[in-house]
Amino acid sequence: MRRRQFLQMSAVVSAQLAITACSGNNEKAAGKAPVKGPSNSLAYVARGGGRSFGTAVNSGMLFTGGPGKQAVLHECATVTPEWVFKWDWLARNGKRYDFRESDRIANFARANGKRIRGHTLLWHLGLPKWAAEELAQQRKWDLVEAHFDAVMGRYSDLVDQWDVVNEPINIGTRNDGLRENQFLAAFGPDYIEWALRAAHGRAPKSRNFINEFNLEYNTPDEGRRRLALLKLVERLLAKGVPLHGVGLQAHLDLRKGKIWQDGVHGLLRDLSAMGLEVAITELDVRENDIRQPTLKRDMMVADEVKRYLETVLAFSAVKSVTTWGLSDRDSWLTYQPGGHPSNRGLPYDRDWQDKPMRGAILGVLAQA
Ligand code: G3I
Repeated sequence: MRRRQFLQMSAVVSAQLAITACSGNNEKAAGKAPVKGPSNSLAYVARGGGRSFGTAVNSGMLFTGGPGKQAVLHECATVTPEWVFKWDWLARNGKRYDFRESDRIANFARANGKRIRGHTLLWHLGLPKWAAEELAQQRKWDLVEAHFDAVMGRYSDLVDQWDVVNEPINIGTRNDGLRENQFLAAFGPDYIEWALRAAHGRAPKSRNFINEFNLEYNTPDEGRRRLALLKLVERLLAKGVPLHGVGLQAHLDLRKGKIWQDGVHGLLRDLSAMGLEVAITELDVRENDIRQPTLKRDMMVADEVKRYLETVLAFSAVKSVTTWGLSDRDSWLTYQPGGHPSNRGLPYDRDWQDKPMRGAILGVLAQA
């Protein structure tokens, strides 16, 4: 970015933001409170364009007295439980489900008028060990249905969208681009169709999604992933399967360069043409070079987010944007393998100072 452009963008971003001090007990530890003012909220601005804005949440963020709860209340219309709706969490102690954490988040949503994105019913990385063992031995579809029964009814008043199948695509082993996961091994490729039908039967008013990642860049793998996803969706729709939307996770990654706008545009064009809703479900940015000055890093993150959102929000099929957390304090990119503790890929930093990424989201939502 040229210096003049950089300064201009910084000025615009700073002018959009008004920071107020926090008065909570954790002020010292957790820094400032999020941006305030009803019309200066991401959800408010998104709603103006007929969309909703939300974030992934966990109990640490909401219930430990820091500014996270306030930020979620202010910025979000929807929340996505980051892990407590997953099978491996709910049934971590065996077949007796433990709903304490998921109920806590559900009750928070109920009490505050927030909707929930149900994430996720079937995920190869979210299967409890006992269920994986049973599936490996027997073709037990009952097991999957029992899980859907346990979860879907309990939260049917809150969940408008279920990520019924998460991350079913993987290039390299099968011609159809489907991931060879535990479900495919047990039931064959039709498990996706069966899951969508089973979910629809249990929550006919909710919209069924397939949620997928690595679809943004101009690499052979991501090109094949886009195509495999489109073909999967096309096959399902041709059979009349109740699939209502596709979730694009959008874990952007500056190590891969810039998103490929033509490729993303083509994906959105084709999904829109099939009449599907599109949700941006896990937006965040993995940084490339953390040795750069902080402002430069933040501007690079914001720039990539702006480019991505401008591309996808050109389509009215995109009805929601969800970031995978609000503050770097809670970002999986800081604690999971391949991440870096100081990654700055969310709208707020670790001290709840808003960053240019927030301004970029706000700006594109306001224009779209
Ligand atoms: O088990 C402990 C629990 O005892 C403790 O109270 C809690 C406190 O932090 O941690 C618990 O473990 C958590 C675990 O999920 C539960 O299975 C980890 O902290 C938590 O970090 C972990 O990872 C999550 C992961 O999915 C698996 O569920 C990540 O936070 C979450 O960001 C990640 O999300 C995925 C999406 O679902 C799908 N797309 C990719 C994305 C990032 O990997």
